[in-house]
Amino acid sequence: MKESTDRHPFLEGLSSHRGASPTVIVIFGASGDLTARKLMPALYNLGVDNLLPADFFFIGYGRSELADDAFRYSMLEAVEKFSRRPLDQNLWENLSKGIGFHAGGYDDTESFVRLRGTIEEIEKSIGRDLQVVFYISTPPSAFSSILTNLGTSGLAQRRTGTKLASKVVIEKPFGHDLVSARELNDVICQNFAENQVFRIDHYLGKETVQSLLVQRFANSIFEPIWNRRYIECIQITVSESIGVGSRAGYYDQSGALRDMIQNHVMQLLALTAMEPPVSLDPEAIRDEKVKVLKAIQPLCMEAETSDVIRGRYVEGLVDGEKAIGYLEEDGVPEKSTTETFVGLRLSINNWRWKGVPFYLRSGKRMARRASEIAVQFKCPPGILFSEKDKFDVGPNVMVLRIQPDEGLALVLNSKVPGLETRTQPVKMNFGYSTTFGSNTPEAYERLILDAMVGDGTLFIRGDETEASWKLFTPILDEWTKSDQVPEDYLSGSWGPEAADALLKQNGHEWRIAGSG
Ligand code: NDP
Ligand code: BG6
Repeated sequence: MKESTDRHPFLEGLSSHRGASPTVIVIFGASGDLTARKLMPALYNLGVDNLLPADFFFIGYGRSELADDAFRYSMLEAVEKFSRRPLDQNLWENLSKGIGFHAGGYDDTESFVRLRGTIEEIEKSIGRDLQVVFYISTPPSAFSSILTNLGTSGLAQRRTGTKLASKVVIEKPFGHDLVSARELNDVICQNFAENQVFRIDHYLGKETVQSLLVQRFANSIFEPIWNRRYIECIQITVSESIGVGSRAGYYDQSGALRDMIQNHVMQLLALTAMEPPVSLDPEAIRDEKVKVLKAIQPLCMEAETSDVIRGRYVEGLVDGEKAIGYLEEDGVPEKSTTETFVGLRLSINNWRWKGVPFYLRSGKRMARRASEIAVQFKCPPGILFSEKDKFDVGPNVMVLRIQPDEGLALVLNSKVPGLETRTQPVKMNFGYSTTFGSNTPEAYERLILDAMVGDGTLFIRGDETEASWKLFTPILDEWTKSDQVPEDYLSGSWGPEAADALLKQNGHEWRIAGSG
């Protein structure tokens, strides 16, 4: 690792931005896919935006015997390939001076002690103390040993003066059920204080997800109607058109419930349904999210009235292209019973939401990629515009488009211009890219910066993840016991028929997600 001298003007005075102190980030599993596709490009773009501290270092950690130069080169390739902004050679040269690789095992305490020595050498060479952000980006089987070794080697409890100067960012999945999530939380607790811990859910880093809080609580028109008196139902869709690709090894052990619903989709639900927090303090927001997660009623699994639908894609057409079924994907076991789609009906048992169904769905190889929250309001009383052949009056719907085409739409009933009174639903539309331009920061940029400055608002607290696992673990246990397989759905469709039937039971139907 070299000393940080001769900095590019971009990097001058960076530490004044949001107060990140001199930092070394250590990424465990740095030779992996996530570092190349997301983490390194995010660090680079923080550099472009002048948001890295003036003294910034990045140590990749892994079992591969990589030389510093080889690692730097692989990071350069990652930036060239995946950065949202083109490479600036001068900036890269300065940034790369602080990049190095530390080869070692994740269960090898000696190697962690050596890592500590390397960090102390960098501090000596620049004459300043550094905070260390440990980013655990390995498969989950290595999480516990890394956390334990950070404790044993003294790295977890590093201090600058009297202040703890270590933080740890933990990738998903956070456990695979309630017991394993608790065990992981215990290991974390034994080695770190909760305010040092940043459990990632990258959906919270998405601009539009953060903007949910602003839309709900910085506008006074929504709060009075955001409840059971005015809202008929809420639908949350996170659909993907891609299949499992090369990730079958991971995905077949996981499935849609663990991979998407338990974390990303439940975070969307918590932000949509929580009470207004008393402040924007991270703990205040997380307290409200936990309260609402705990108010969700246990899910019914009885055949006729089940709240849970699971599906698995079979061969079909996605965007006009033939797509193979899940069981034909490379690496998927012949006898797999893993679901690639989950549809749910949830009830929140509190004053605001009692009686309002929340419908959630997420799946792979669906008709299109679309994440959105659709709040469907109650229909007006059918007194004035009730003649069906003349008046096309639908419910008002507010659609928060998380991705793509980020924005917000409000569906209203309007008069069709003409000499007689006819009505038709119309849309008022706000698009982020039209108003603010399209080159918004990636989720990981925001999350890494927040971890560096110690802001935990967009990270999951231990009790949040446990509350979510508590809801879903009985379902996972039931599926493990059962010999039933998920219901087939065609690739390129909106999921299995049972998911439509689930809503029909309450007189509702799914919106076509991504339709504006
Ligand atoms: P990889 O499978 O690419 O693994 C990352 C690195 O971890 C590897 O390069 C390897 O480094 C080391 N590693 C691989 N297998 C093992 C093992 N069995 N035990 C210990 N170390 C191992 O993972 P990703 O980079 O794809 O993901 C990292 C983390 O981020 C995971 O927890 C994943 O769930 C999460 N994540 C990933 C996303 C993605 O798009 N990739 C999206 C969201 C979350 P070495 O051999 O050098 O030690
Ligand atoms: C990851 C899941 O957490 O999120 C993937 O493991 C999924 O299976 C991805 O494809 C979706 O993220 P995004 O940001 O592309 O919607």
